[in-house]
Amino acid sequence: MTAFDNIRLADDAALEEAARILRAGGLVAFPTETVYGLGADATDDLAVAAIFEAKGRPRFNPLIVHLPTAAAAEGIVVLDNRARALARDFWPGPLTMVLQRAEGCPGSLLASAGLDSLALRVPGHPLAEALLRRTGRPLAAPSANRAGALSPTSAQHVAASLGDRVPLILDGGPCLLGLESTVVDLTGQRPALLRPGAVTREALEAALGPIAGSDSAAAIKSPGQLSSHYAPALPLRLEASAAGPREALLAFGPEVPAGAAETLNLSPSGDLTEAAANLFAHLHALDRPGLAAIAVMPIPESGLGAAINDRLRRAAAPRG
Ligand code: TXA
Ligand code: MG
Repeated sequence: MTAFDNIRLADDAALEEAARILRAGGLVAFPTETVYGLGADATDDLAVAAIFEAKGRPRFNPLIVHLPTAAAAEGIVVLDNRARALARDFWPGPLTMVLQRAEGCPGSLLASAGLDSLALRVPGHPLAEALLRRTGRPLAAPSANRAGALSPTSAQHVAASLGDRVPLILDGGPCLLGLESTVVDLTGQRPALLRPGAVTREALEAALGPIAGSDSAAAIKSPGQLSSHYAPALPLRLEASAAGPREALLAFGPEVPAGAAETLNLSPSGDLTEAAANLFAHLHALDRPGLAAIAVMPIPESGLGAAINDRLRRAAAPRG
């Protein structure tokens, strides 16, 4: 076995294999015009959790969901006139729009990192488009590198960073742009540029009018800048070994104390990937009026546990 035997030239057979892996909840690295993405079925919480696991991400940043066409965004997000104008002008292409999740949005809450928005992009690369069409699912895909490493612009970069953490790397040659997509947030009154990229501020302003910069208050919406960005309405009580009758219990592992008003278990078997997949959905479900708090059992700090605990600590942080 050579070091790079998970790289395959992206021919018809490899695309078919990639689509099969993705539909089964697996990971595939694929080329886009910006950088290589580490893709998973964006409607599958467990598959999305596997992305964070493979990247070794210490926290759950929200992910960009990739679509084959702009029309595929219907029913996933709320498209206003500004979004439609940008889609017409810049999709397919290196532009990501952060939009309000639609009612009944099929996208994983983990891909949104618990936010009520979702980032979408229609990549302008024929292999990415072909993969999206064949898979028939929206694909969540951050850059295909370990956390903290540089974004990969070739299949070899992906293999060097992720190794056998990804079963298949589709080789489409070097990326044309080599720089991650522009991210614009359209959830507020005024659009905000969250990440500069190949679609320039000037180009966006020509389509939309003035845009708030990343130094403005609007850009505080960019996750990671806030100590508490997804917080349930109920206070969180961490490291709980028991829960009272007016508390909801977010449990982990096989041994769950009785006595809570309501209990949801992140993973009865103590599996951290499963726990990550369930985290935001369970927090939303337990966040009910009438209760005093959500008590959270201890989660080990190893592997994805660090990311889970990071989010829990943020959700428990004093509210500003
Ligand atoms: O070019 C690209 O965008 C590549 C290729 C693979 O498409 N993807 C990429 O993904 O760079 P990633 O995960 O490395 O960067 C996603 C960026 C992050 O800065 C994240 O905070 C932001 O998009 N983002 C994603 N969802 C968001 C949301 N709901 N609200 C605000 N920002 C969001
Ligand atoms: Mg990245």
